[in-house]
Amino acid sequence: MKAAVTLICVLMMGTATAKGAFDDTDDAIQYRQAAFGLIKENFADMGAMLKKKKPMDSEAFAQRAQHLALLAEIPFTGFIPGSDKGKTDALGKVWQQRSDFDQRASQFAQATATLAQVSQGNDLKATAKAFGDVGKTCKGCHDNFKKD
Ligand code: HEC
Repeated sequence: MKAAVTLICVLMMGTATAKGAFDDTDDAIQYRQAAFGLIKENFADMGAMLKKKKPMDSEAFAQRAQHLALLAEIPFTGFIPGSDKGKTDALGKVWQQRSDFDQRASQFAQATATLAQVSQGNDLKATAKAFGDVGKTCKGCHDNFKKD
């Protein structure tokens, strides 16, 4: 909930600045972290259903998956030049190896789109696989581009 409010506030501040760009690297960092917070909330809730830590509700799951797919591109606009400095866990490699980072971001977006689609069917096994594939893209990027 806090992440959602932060994201909305940052979005509103974004529209107030020229062309919606970030003037301030701190804003950009907060924006991308808030977006990752929402991503995590959706991802973790789906994980809880698949691991039977809470009852499976296939409609709720499909909605989570759809929202995750909608969120998938949001954090990446916040990785602006100079935002490797500040309260961030992003490694400098993000900017030094940008094409690898961008490629991982697009693979992540692709995997979330697949999950959103697959979760609309009634194939739990296929859904679990698509979910696992998304998780691999999170981990792959974090292992390379995020402090732990
Ligand atoms: C292409 C790279 C990439 C992908 C894919 C990715 N992340 Fe991240 N994530 C990062 C980086 C880099 C940071 C550090 C951001 C910062 O601190 O500025 C981060 C930060 C986070 C954070 C911490 C946010 C905060 O409040 O500081 C969470 C939670 C998170 N990611 C969850 C996820 C989950 C869950 C997935 C997959 C469903 C995912 N990420 C996919 C690169 C990625």
